[in-house]
Amino acid sequence: MAKAKNQPEGEAFLAAIPEEKKIRSLGVIMDGNGRWAKARALPRTAGHIAGAKVVPRLIGDLRELGVRTVTLYAFSTENWKRPKPEVDALMGLLARYMKEVVIPKIESDPGFGVRFLGDLGKLSPDLADLCRRAERMGQGREFLCNIAFNYGGREEILHAANEAIAAGELPLTEEILERHLYTAGIPDPDLIIRTAGESRLSGFLLWQAAYSEIYITKTLWPDFSREDLVAALCDYYRRTRRFGGLAPEEGSL
Ligand code: IPE
Ligand code: IPE
Ligand code: MG
Repeated sequence: MAKAKNQPEGEAFLAAIPEEKKIRSLGVIMDGNGRWAKARALPRTAGHIAGAKVVPRLIGDLRELGVRTVTLYAFSTENWKRPKPEVDALMGLLARYMKEVVIPKIESDPGFGVRFLGDLGKLSPDLADLCRRAERMGQGREFLCNIAFNYGGREEILHAANEAIAAGELPLTEEILERHLYTAGIPDPDLIIRTAGESRLSGFLLWQAAYSEIYITKTLWPDFSREDLVAALCDYYRRTRRFGGLAPEEGSL
């Protein structure tokens, strides 16, 4: 919602964006938890705990700013390469977060739902059940938070292709493949924000990111604030998206 007086410049700019131009879907690569912890001489796990705490605030900010779908990259198919204690801590954190934050939120807020993207089959059965239960409880809600967990873009595309082939849906088309992606029915991200400065996708939404705008900030994920979000959104709205065509003002000789 627009804050009337003393509204910072970026917020005022965002409040004036017409509805039809608004971001429908945002992706976030939440990186930098380890570096945040290291800078404080804390264990990496403390960085992951601090990072998880940012998410509810981010979701509140997104809803205020009119973004209704967000996809958070929380654990990649490659993150299993980390030392077992860190992987175990991340699994434990998801379980705790589901029980203490996500499920109570879905119960108390009729506008909030979650969906998991990725292969939950590699998680413990209890944790996978918790995730599936949360998805069922929050189906069809106005705000959708997708959690990419044990997610990898290559795995997703292969999984979708194999499902389509098994169903005899050949020859494959974009539409057929998209129906089998974990993101079926979710708009492609208009904007992907990556924190902590790396200029890469690390497997995030490889199919869906074909025409996504990408915004990289040096801010480490646990420090990501509303100001950082507003800066990213303002940057996005100042860009011209062409999708391979021409911008309207470029269309005449
Ligand atoms: C992102 O933070 C969280 C996960 C990948 C699970 P990192 O743990 O990658 O933090 P850095 O990149 O080491 O700082
Ligand atoms: C990407 O971060 C994955 C998540 C944020 C979950 P990484 O820290 O795993 O990426 P790389 O290894 O730097 O590419
Ligand atoms: Mg990292």
